[in-house]
Amino acid sequence: MTSRTSRFRLSDPSLFVQQAFVDGSWVKSADGKTMDVQDPFTGKSLGTVPDMTADDVASAITAAKAALPTWSALTAYQRQSYLNSLLSLMRANADDLALILTAENGKPLAEAKGEIAYGAGFVDWFAGEAVRTYGHNVPSAIPGTRNNVIKQPIGVCGLITPWNFPNAMITRKLAPALAAGCTVVIKAPAETPFSALAMCVLCERAGIPKGVVNCVTVDKGEREAACGLELCENPDIAKISFTGSTPVGKLLMKQSSSTLKKLSFELGGNAPFIVFDDADLDVALAGVVASKFRASGQTCVCANRIYVQRGVYEKFAAMVADKVSTFNTGDPMLPGTQIGPLVNSRGVDKVQRHVEDAVSKGAKVLAGGRKGDGCLFEPTVLSNVPADAAISTEETFGPLAALFSFETEAEVISSANDSEVGLAGYVFTRDVSRVHRVSEKLAVGMVAVNTGIISQPCVPFGGVKGSGFGREGGKGGIDEYTIEKLITIGGL
Ligand code: SIN
Repeated sequence: MTSRTSRFRLSDPSLFVQQAFVDGSWVKSADGKTMDVQDPFTGKSLGTVPDMTADDVASAITAAKAALPTWSALTAYQRQSYLNSLLSLMRANADDLALILTAENGKPLAEAKGEIAYGAGFVDWFAGEAVRTYGHNVPSAIPGTRNNVIKQPIGVCGLITPWNFPNAMITRKLAPALAAGCTVVIKAPAETPFSALAMCVLCERAGIPKGVVNCVTVDKGEREAACGLELCENPDIAKISFTGSTPVGKLLMKQSSSTLKKLSFELGGNAPFIVFDDADLDVALAGVVASKFRASGQTCVCANRIYVQRGVYEKFAAMVADKVSTFNTGDPMLPGTQIGPLVNSRGVDKVQRHVEDAVSKGAKVLAGGRKGDGCLFEPTVLSNVPADAAISTEETFGPLAALFSFETEAEVISSANDSEVGLAGYVFTRDVSRVHRVSEKLAVGMVAVNTGIISQPCVPFGGVKGSGFGREGGKGGIDEYTIEKLITIGGL
């Protein structure tokens, strides 16, 4: 470990790697260029990783293609066994993985440990699913024939992963791909490459053969765009799984059209969080804390528009403000910290813009409202937010709870659905009929009722409209990495 990482000490320093992983080797970029990765709390460099080129991505794809025949020919039980080894290694190294994650992402350490458990959960789930990619037989309409439908791995997959869950968004894609028999090229996010590379160390230790898992690192800007284009246009990539913003998703989809790749996209959200007059307000408060302030507000499923019915509005707003005022903000490495720094200054600027915009249109600051040192932003509660505030239509991605009021169920459903995206939605009520009515009418891929926690490896995760398509996790998660092939047998 170099002195630059002296803010944290790993039990196993060899998990912190400053090279990319291609064809089973730790490599530099083709031209030797590197990029700095910063600790968002201190603003200091944590280390460097290769700033790779489209040619490096092409080499990684070639390696993944060469590894595909052998990996896909293993039995599902053999692939399951590799995944179980990876799972054991993740669990054994969870503390170190969490330290690396906190250092580069700024997520409070307790939450980072939670993310490693969540990430390991995907490996666990898909190790189980590996042996359940059942085909089926279909009664034939043609005399003397039989129809067998089998599932086969789709091929080499490009996995483009985000910085907000540097571990779990990799395992959510990597584990089903490996379980299905695919090989992969991961494009790690520029902000958090060390978590991705630590996972490659563990894949190597799990004995996963060379070329099956490859990971490239690249800085934001022109090179990243060129690497993305290579993944989308290279004919040897069969599928792209992407988690990130809606505009980038649209671009990747356009770029992938020339090679007609299978795609699954988990894109931006703007989650409505609806509290009806009859809700248990303590439960709703716990829901706001869980869904709005997880990862300091930097998740795609974070509550973004908090709609509170008129009868409980003042009371609930005061409860949220009181609670949020108690949050400890600061160094994510310290045990009591609940809100860490945002990932970069662009993130801070966006929260500030949303606060200023809402206040200029009549919103009241009930808690926080100001930028702190570096990339910190005070956890903030705004009441009386008007419908034309920027936060109504834009995902804040920061610790800002914006409270809107509403009168009727029909009105709030209409406001909630008045969005170009639809990932998650939250409903708080004690009325069972309303639970069904509202959940079914919300134009989102996932609804949480009387809870702020939605994400688990065993359920489908994904959105509608501008939030993308395809589902990760759950019973269908592995199908995103397979194709159904029909074999009709005649002459019987
Ligand atoms: C995301 O923010 O993209 C993922 C959040 C989750 O898995 O809960």
